[in-house]
Amino acid sequence: MTYLCKMILENISLKPFNTFGIEATSSYFGRFSSIEELSPILKEYSQEKLLVLGGGSNILFVKNHFDGLVLVNEIKGFEVIESTSEFAIVKAGAGEVWHEFVLKCIENGFCGVENLSLIPGSVGASPMQNIGAYGVEIKDVFEKLEAFHIASGEIHTFSKEDCEFGYRESVFKRKLKDQYIITSVFYRLSKTQNVNTSYGVIESELVKEGITSPTIKNVSNAVIAIRRSKLPDPKEIGNAGSFFKNPIVSKLTLEKIKRNHPNVPNYPSQNDEVKLAAGWLIEQAGWKGKTFDYYGVHKLQALVLVNYKGATGKEVYDLSTLIITDVKAKFGVDLEREVNII
Ligand code: FAD
Ligand code: EPU
Repeated sequence: MTYLCKMILENISLKPFNTFGIEATSSYFGRFSSIEELSPILKEYSQEKLLVLGGGSNILFVKNHFDGLVLVNEIKGFEVIESTSEFAIVKAGAGEVWHEFVLKCIENGFCGVENLSLIPGSVGASPMQNIGAYGVEIKDVFEKLEAFHIASGEIHTFSKEDCEFGYRESVFKRKLKDQYIITSVFYRLSKTQNVNTSYGVIESELVKEGITSPTIKNVSNAVIAIRRSKLPDPKEIGNAGSFFKNPIVSKLTLEKIKRNHPNVPNYPSQNDEVKLAAGWLIEQAGWKGKTFDYYGVHKLQALVLVNYKGATGKEVYDLSTLIITDVKAKFGVDLEREVNII
C-alpha cells in the first residue's frame, strides 16, 4: 500500500469495505466527508473509473481487482429543517449509518422509518434501490435528495418523481447510473405515531411480546428481533442480504405454478401482475442451505447467498447463475439479481 496524497491510497484491500467479505483490491482508495473534499479528488482522478461506496452491503466484487478509484462517502449530519405539529423534515448526510439514522428518528419521536430498522448500509444508498422491508419503502417517507453531478461538479436536487422509484429501483440504478454521488437525503416523517404493522410477522412478534398498542420503538424492536432470527449478521457470515429480487410475473405464470404447488406464496402487484417469493422458489428448487465448502445458500433464508470464509466473488456469482437457471427450468420464472455486481 502506497500513501499517495492527503487522502488517496494505492492498491488497498476492499475486503473490509464489502459485507460479503470478498477479497479484492482497488488501484486507488479514499474517503470524503464533505463536497469540498470530494471535488478536488474527482478533478485529480478524473481519468479513473469511479466507485462510490457507503457500507458496501449491496455489492459483489466479481473481479479480484477494481481498476479505478473507490471512494467511501462519510458525509455526516442529522438536521431537522422543518417541523410542524404533524411532521418533521430531516436532512441526513449520505454517509450516516442507516440504522443509526433510524434510531435518531425514533428518539425524536419521528415516525416512518422504524420498519426499516437494522438494514445495513448508509443513508446515501437508501434511495439507490428504494430500500424496503416489512411493508415500508423509502419512497413512502422520501422528500428530496441532493446529489453531486460528476460531469459538471454541480449539486442537483431530485424530487420523489425525479427519482423514479420502483421495487428495489430508482433512476440512479438505470438511466442516471454512475452519473451522481448522493450527498444528502431529506425525509418527511410523521409526528403522529401511526405505526404500520400490516406485515404479518410484525403482528405476531408483537403478540409474542404481549404488546397491544405498539409505539414506534416497539415496532423497531420487533423488526430487529425478526431480522436477527433469519438474516445472517454480516459481521459473522459474509452476505449482502437478498441476492435476488422477488420476481413479478403474470397471473398465467402463477396459475401454472399453482397446478403443482397450490400454496405458492404470492402478493398483489401493479398492472394485474403478482409478486412471487424468490426465497420460496429457491427453497422448493432444493437450494436452501446448500453449501460448497466455504460459500452457499443460507440455511434460514434461501434468498441470501453467503460467504462463510474466503469465497471469491466469481464463485458466488456462478452459484447465482446456477440458481437462476434451475428456477427458470423448474418454474419458468426469471430471477433477477438485486445485488450490484462490480
Ligand atoms: P453500498 O453497498 O455501499 O452501495 C450500493 C450501491 O449504491 C453501489 O452501486 C454504490 O456505488 C451505490 N452508492 C452507495 N452510496 C452512494 C452514494 N452516496 N451516491 C451514489 N451511489 C451510491 N436492502 C433492502 O432494501 N431491504 C432489506 O431488508 C435489506 N436487508 C439487508 C440485510 C442484510 C444482512 C444485508 C447485508 C443487506 C440488506 N439489504 C437490504 C441491502 C443493503 O443493506 C441496502 O441496499 C443498503 O441500502 C445498501 O447500502 P450501502 O451503503 O451498504 O450501499
Ligand atoms: N420463504 C421461503 N423460504 C425461504 C425464504 C422465504 O419459503 O428460504 C417464503 C416465506 O415463508 C414467505 C415469503 O417467502 O412466505 C417471504 O419471505 P420473507 O418475509 O422473509 O421476505 P423475503 O421476500 O424473503 C423480502 C425482502 C427483504 C426484506 C423482507 C421483509 C426482497 C428481495 N427481499 O424478503 O429485503 O427484508 O422481504 O420485508 O424484496 C434485501 O433486499 O436485501 C432484503 C433482505
